[in-house]
Amino acid sequence: MEISGLFFHPRYKKIMTKILITGGAGFIGSNLIDHFLKEGHKVVCLDNLATGFEHNIQHHYNNPDFTFIKGDIRDLETCKQAVEGCDYVLHEAALGSVPRSIEDPATTNAVNIGGFLNMLIAARDEGVKRFVYAASSSTYGDSKKLPKVEDEIGKPLSPYAITKYVDELYADVFSKTYGMQCIGLRYFNVFGKRQTPDGAYAAVIPLWVKELINHRQPKINGDGSYSRDFTYIENVIQANEKALFTTDEQIAQGQYEYYNIELDFHKYYRDGASATEETVKTIHESSLSKSQLQSKQSRSFAEVFNVAYGGNTNLIQLFEALRDNLAHFDKDIQNIEPEFGPNRPGDIPHSQASIKKAEMILDYAPEYDARTGFERVAEWYFESLK
Ligand SMILES: NC(=O)c1ccc[n+]([C@@H]2O[C@H](COP(=O)([O-])OP(=O)(O)OC[C@H]3O[C@@H](n4cnc5c(N)ncnc54)[C@H](O)[C@@H]3O)[C@@H](O)[C@H]2O)c1
Repeated sequence: MEISGLFFHPRYKKIMTKILITGGAGFIGSNLIDHFLKEGHKVVCLDNLATGFEHNIQHHYNNPDFTFIKGDIRDLETCKQAVEGCDYVLHEAALGSVPRSIEDPATTNAVNIGGFLNMLIAARDEGVKRFVYAASSSTYGDSKKLPKVEDEIGKPLSPYAITKYVDELYADVFSKTYGMQCIGLRYFNVFGKRQTPDGAYAAVIPLWVKELINHRQPKINGDGSYSRDFTYIENVIQANEKALFTTDEQIAQGQYEYYNIELDFHKYYRDGASATEETVKTIHESSLSKSQLQSKQSRSFAEVFNVAYGGNTNLIQLFEALRDNLAHFDKDIQNIEPEFGPNRPGDIPHSQASIKKAEMILDYAPEYDARTGFERVAEWYFESLK
């Protein structure tokens, strides 16, 4: 791999790199592009504009550190060209949405699994330092356990969920077989600026904001009791930054602490045992010593992390928070009530993440709770619609 891709940024005094961000014209990808360019990195964006928009990235077109390649991840050659000279990959490109995958499982499969595999192959051949990809909380499927802990998943409930789980399996096999470093970030209901309210598969927050701004009644699927761990985009940016740049040594140390202590504690608690001195002693005795663990570790690994705030907000609370925030800009919005409809197939009742693993291994520390995020998103929609 070209070492000239590395350079020092005078302001941050840290190694700056060239990062390929696939799906960079989309909601999450374009926010990542803004961040990493601002931090002084070089960024290549690969996107076929299937669900993304040029207007999300065109403010960077005159920036010499930015390159946009309009292309499809289903084409291996395109992936190889895009990753040339890059040190890292942030793979965000995919067809999102559970309902879309139920309507058209074949295309979702081709993009989310076929395209993912192409990107892994291209990243492997280029010898990138780390391959960080967008995984999904949908991988927890029908598991009812709360909070969601990374190693306890259920059966997938949609074609979309299958694709995201298969991606994790591929990343794991590529790390073992080809010595890659792969990190999957299981995003939980991300929201923030540039999330589009348009189209048949829009996410709930932009959709409701659009309805409220237009004085229409947002539709709640079900009785409003379903809850989610709504995650503000700034927390997602932080998780990606840490997934890219947390050093191998910090990761090894975090893995030691997490797998040998925290996860065992979690299992004891879940099985109903109390953390007596005896339990602690058993855990420590059955654990590998730190040096044993480090010697087992090569530079390659595949990890997945929940990326969320670790809270839960039900749909009624979400509706009220959005309505209250939007009413600051237009007081008539305060009188709008939601309309209730049937539950949607494939939706799970509750989702809340444990973020302990990301905290311990990546030093992830989300700064924005859902309420702060709702305030900011309401303000952004109003300003951008002005
Ligand atoms: N938004 C969330 O709450 C959420 C939750 C879990 C996981 N994710 C994952 O995060 C990633 C980004 O999601 P998002 O919300 O920004 O969605 P998005 O639709 O806004 O962005 C996806 C981008 O990928 C591009 N893309 C789609 N097919 C492509 C192809 N064949 N080749 C090249 N580019 C292609 C789209 O044009 C779009 O710009 C996705 O992998 C998604 O599955 C998102």
